[in-house]
Order: sequence, then C-alpha cells, then structure tokens
Amino acid sequence: MKMTVVGCGYLGATHAACMAELGHEVLGLDSDPDRIALLATGKAPFYERDLDGLLAEHTASGRLKFTTSVEEAAAFADLYFVGVGTPQQPGSGSYDLSQLFGAVRTLAPHLTAPAVIAVKSTVPVGTAPQLAELVRATAPAGDLVEIAWNPEFLRESSAIEDTLRPDRLVLGFDTPGTRAETVLRQAYAPVIASGTPMIVTDWATAELAKGAANSFLAAKISFINAMAEVCEKSGANVSGLADILGHDVRIGRRGMQPGIGFGGGCLPKDLGGFIARAEALGAGEAVGMLREAESVNARRRRRVVDLAREELGTDLRGKRITVWGAAFKAGTDDIRDSPALAVAGALHALGARVTVTDPQALDNARKLHPELDYAEDPAAAVDGADLLLHLTEWPAFAHLDPGPLAARARTPKAVDARGTLDTGRWRAAGWTVRAPGRP
Ligand code: UDX
Repeated sequence: MKMTVVGCGYLGATHAACMAELGHEVLGLDSDPDRIALLATGKAPFYERDLDGLLAEHTASGRLKFTTSVEEAAAFADLYFVGVGTPQQPGSGSYDLSQLFGAVRTLAPHLTAPAVIAVKSTVPVGTAPQLAELVRATAPAGDLVEIAWNPEFLRESSAIEDTLRPDRLVLGFDTPGTRAETVLRQAYAPVIASGTPMIVTDWATAELAKGAANSFLAAKISFINAMAEVCEKSGANVSGLADILGHDVRIGRRGMQPGIGFGGGCLPKDLGGFIARAEALGAGEAVGMLREAESVNARRRRRVVDLAREELGTDLRGKRITVWGAAFKAGTDDIRDSPALAVAGALHALGARVTVTDPQALDNARKLHPELDYAEDPAAAVDGADLLLHLTEWPAFAHLDPGPLAARARTPKAVDARGTLDTGRWRAAGWTVRAPGRP
C-alpha cells in the first residue's frame, strides 16, 4: 500500500520506517526541512536503537521517502497517519494541540478524493469529533474523508519492536465497518496476521487508551516508590518487596522498578493531561490517586537531593558531585523531563559543582543545561568527586569496576538512585553507598 506519515518526530519517523519494513511505500511529511533532509539520507535526528539501520535500508530501496511538501504528500496516497507532537502547555497539565490541528488544517484542502486520516498522536478525549468537523468543513471531499483513532504505545529504546510487534492494536472509528476500517486492517495486515490482539472500538475509548495506559504505568511506578518510602522508615528492602509482589501474576514485576521516579516525554505529560481532561469533564474525583502518583514522583527527585545533603552537609557550595546519567532512562538520548538532569540542576542551584556524564545524551544535555560540567568518560568523571550519583541505569555504568573508581574519587561516597549497582561489590571496594528504599 501507499501511505503518508504526517510528522516525523520520534513517533512518526519510527512509524514510517516500520511501515516500510512491513512492505508498504511510505512518504514522510514534516515542516522541518533539516529533519527531512537528514531522514532522507537514512539517519534519524535522535538516537533510537536500530532505527538508523531501518531508515538506511528503506530510503536506499526507495520504499521510504521524505518531503516537506503537503501537495506532494496529498498526491501520494489516500491513507495518512498523523504522528505530530502534542506537548504539554506551559504552566498547565493540558495538551497543546496546535500542531495536530495545524497539520490537519494544512492537509484538508488538498483532500479531493476519499481518504483516511489515522491519528496516532496522544490527545485529550473529545478531540476526534473536533478534527472530523474541521475536515468536513475544509476538505473538498468532505464526508468522504474518514477519521480513525490509532493510538501508539511505543517505548523509546524499543520503539521498532513495539511498533512491529505491539502488545495490541487499537483502532477507533465513529462508525465501525466503514472503508477506514478496511484500509487500516490492510495496512496492518502482517501485524494482525502474526496474532497481535486487536481492539476495534469507538473514538472516545481509543482516545482514552493511551492516557489511561500511561497513567496506570505511572501509578504503578509511584506505588512501588511510595513503598520505598515506607521501606526506608522500616528498614525493609524495596527491591525484595517488588520481587515478592511481582510474582503475583495480577501485579507483575515489569514496570515496577523502584528508583528515582518516572520522566521522559510521555508519562509525566500524559498523566498531567489525563488528570486535566478528567477534571474538565467533571470526573476530578476519579483521578485523585493519579494526583497522588504525581506527588510521589516529585518526592523521589527531592529525596536524592536530600541524600546528597545528608552525605555532604547542607552547604553544598564548592562540593564536587558527579552525576552518572542525563537521559530520562537508559537506551535513549532523550532528556525531556529527565529525573537525572532535574537532580543535577537542583544540586548546581544549591552551589555544588556538578559533572554529568552519559553515553548518548550529552549533546542534548549541554544545550539545556550549559551551567553544568560534562565529561565523556564515566570513570574520568569521578576524578576528585565528593559524591557520585547513579541516576540513569545505563548498563555501562553498572559494569565499571568500583575498585579503581574509589581511588579516583576524593571521598568514595555514592547514591544509587536506580538500584542497579551491585552495592555489595561497591561497599567491598571501599565505597559508602546509599540507595533509596534499601537498607
Ligand atoms: C512510555 C510508555 O511505556 C509507552 O507505552 C508509551 O507509548 C510512551 O511512554 P517511555 O517514555 O519510552 O514509554 O518510557 P518507559 O520505559 O515507560 O519509562 C518511563 C519512565 O519511567 C522512565 O523515566 C523510566 O526510568 C521510569 N520507570 C519505568 C521506572 O522508574 N520504573 C519502571 O519500572 C519503569
């Protein structure tokens, strides 16, 4: 099939490459000429495992092309996946839908024949009817342009796997059984044929799916992090507790790793957006526990700052702190709402001299936090440190030998906020290690 992917950021670029991998002819559309130029050479404008390989393969074969021209995109196909960004509005939990409505407003006047617009971007429930109204009013083909809702659940660092072999496929339609459903079933035929569970539903349920899923995941992380607080007061070990709870299949261990709390471009935004929309709909009471999940999450970052002050004294001026990690999690160069950088920034504001290292995210971190110091090599970053903070769980950090590192630090003190260092080994090598939620 031929199809256009509108918006070539994280979601769109991955989706475009994966649709080409499934055998389709794909045209990616984005208004950013630099991004399009880079993608056209087979390179992603961000780090995602295996994505460069897929882009290179399919741009070379000619199955995947990129453009900034809406006219070209509209002439190319009659199936449009929309994966533009829906960021959080500054100062509120609500979504900024300007890119989504802008993209559809630009595209609609070119739609002169029956078409399907399948929206993948995350939105507040109630957006689909508004988009449908916009299309009806501005597309020459009017009612022949159908809107479908097709939320995306990909995780950064496993985005390709999550797209090609998703846990489930969700398709939302105003009216089931129309041409839009036939077209999307055809587009996803290989995914469906491999046994992926598929849920065909209405617009509102499909719109809610992503926000609800991410709110649950966020609440699950905050639950175990709240348990970490109780563990700290009682001398228990939150890792052992998570293992015990996780063996109950109704609970499950995955997505319940205690630590510094969640960050990134999705979980915090979708949790805030879900709460804001529920409140606007008069369902504020229903999301009380989600507000609590936000509070627990904010406390995790503060706890690491507090631990640093417990170790170094309340006056941090002149103290040298090394931070292992800038990305919001391992496997990505994404620093959006990164807990590691939030803690690094807070400690710098308290007067500490903070040196940050990360295998992928240093370029992005330098741009956002020019006030911090940076080091490429995690071992060299420890030179002269009064305190080492392990804030992003890159395996490369956990694999380093703590013995030689102890000699490089001024004082061998560490805080393992991710809980993935072998603390026994570190202590045996002379380090004092604090780990939130663990004795
Ligand atoms: C998330 C959802 O998982 C995905 O389904 C959705 O499509 C987009 O948002 P992502 O932001 O890539 O994906 O990251 P995820 O792996 O879910 O981690 C989010 C944050 O939670 C990270 O900061 C991570 O470190 C933290 N986390 C995750 C935990 O603290 N504990 C866990 O057990 C899992």
